[in-house]
Amino acid sequence: MTLNKTNPSKTKSWESLQSISENLKAQSILSLFENDSHRVSSHTVKWEEFLIDFSKNKIDQSAWDALYSLASECKLEEAKKSYFEGATINETEGRAVLHTALRAQNTAVRIDGVPIDEDIKAVKEQMRRFTSSVIEGSHKGFTGKSITDVVNIGIGGSDLGPVMVVDAMAYYKNHLKVHFVSNVDGDHINEVLKDLNPETTLFVIVSKSFTTQETLANATTAKKWFLNFAEEKWVANHFAAVSTNLKMIDEFGIDQKNVFTMWNWVGGRFSLWSSVGLSIAMAIGYDRFEELLNGAQGMDEHFYEAPIALNIPTRMALLSVWYNNFLEAETEALIPYTQYLQRFPAYLQQAIMESNGKGVDREGNEVTYQTGNIVWGEPGTNAQHAFFQLIHQGTKLIPVDFIGFKSSLHGDQSHHDKLMSNFFAQTEALLNGKSAEQVKKELISEGKSLQEINALLPHKVFKGDNPTTTLLIDRLTPYNLGALIAAYEHKIFVQGVIWNIFSYDQWGVELGKQLAKTILDEWNTKKAASHDPSTKELISYYRQNS
Ligand code: F6P
Repeated sequence: MTLNKTNPSKTKSWESLQSISENLKAQSILSLFENDSHRVSSHTVKWEEFLIDFSKNKIDQSAWDALYSLASECKLEEAKKSYFEGATINETEGRAVLHTALRAQNTAVRIDGVPIDEDIKAVKEQMRRFTSSVIEGSHKGFTGKSITDVVNIGIGGSDLGPVMVVDAMAYYKNHLKVHFVSNVDGDHINEVLKDLNPETTLFVIVSKSFTTQETLANATTAKKWFLNFAEEKWVANHFAAVSTNLKMIDEFGIDQKNVFTMWNWVGGRFSLWSSVGLSIAMAIGYDRFEELLNGAQGMDEHFYEAPIALNIPTRMALLSVWYNNFLEAETEALIPYTQYLQRFPAYLQQAIMESNGKGVDREGNEVTYQTGNIVWGEPGTNAQHAFFQLIHQGTKLIPVDFIGFKSSLHGDQSHHDKLMSNFFAQTEALLNGKSAEQVKKELISEGKSLQEINALLPHKVFKGDNPTTTLLIDRLTPYNLGALIAAYEHKIFVQGVIWNIFSYDQWGVELGKQLAKTILDEWNTKKAASHDPSTKELISYYRQNS
């Protein structure tokens, strides 16, 4: 069953949402609290160790109800079934989208009539054995020493998920040092290689396609570097690979026993749950990797079963549609109040923007409404000292997700209280703002003259009314991290269903790759290709001066 092709802007709910939004634009979020004494409880969802407070958003129950109707008119429930049951919902690539099957305990899903459960279990078992042998030290390098450093070579989904999770799980990490090389910039790999000992280094080459320029170039450089110290036969002990393209891996010379397969039904940006997560399992051990998967599975079940009003990913998605399509917000910020999640916004940028940055609907027509929201962010409190000025006093509407934890991992309560006081203060400040009267009072008490007060006052006023969603989670555990990531994955899915776009292809990345190849070929063959005047001039300047 493929996805329905409903144009959301032609639905009844869309029309209602437009008129509701006109009314709500004129109201402040604070007035919504005044009109509804149960607003906090009715806009808060609890699930396991998660509490999500949606109440500080510019939305009322009539808008939520219309959004729920929109989801129903766009056949969300049917779409969810297709997603979890392995229908070919990635139509333009002819693939199912089954990262959920990777974290299910058992799956009855079949692809082209073939069950996938046993394959998944076999690869997981291979991962468990391999990572244990490296962590325990029984896997030896060419001089008989155990591995101390693992280098993940991959880009996009073959890098961002693993690097984000390894960073996020630093507290749970074992002795292995895990490095990530992604950029084709030679300075990236050379910076990493310069501190490594070839006797104790394991390279994990991760590429779903095994044709990605960056990854192949870095893998070739790594192998060349390694062969300066060891004979070819030792490549087997120092190189592993993750891919769907087993033929290309063979040509690269990686021993079959170190090859971890993945499948076309796992999208690159949703692949950290597959063997792409090998470096995660290396860093935290296979059992904790499983806990991460279990957390994602918990969220999958919640998403599949919870009624819409209690459904975290669905509400997050509908809220984003509300801001994007009815309140003209162009971007969303995401501020994790933990340094461990410093790469989470970057990870979500690929997941969200590569998925929903589409301008053509599921029938191939240009869409007439906004799709793919822009997402950005940095950890708090650092972000407060960087771009929060613009969120507080700038001219743009920026809904913000605040992600915080009830307890810290190292248990330093004094630091955690400082961190969390900022966490709550920021959402409070963004909501309430600071009126001219308040500012005036403060300036008077500081002894300012009337002239000084008049000059300063407008600059010190905060209009407030800036929407935020608070995600308060008990603790940053592998389980909760898995659930958090899965919540955003399903948010992406729901948005794509509503917007009537294909979320799981990424044709928009191809043109740039093609042209880079043309330019490189031009330099290698010395045969000029045609370029626009600006690019031609720039290339010629580069070639003369480099
Ligand atoms: O260029 C985009 C992309 O195809 C991503 O979707 C993907 O995650 C990344 O490149 C890496 O691809 P691969 O894993 O095939 O090397």
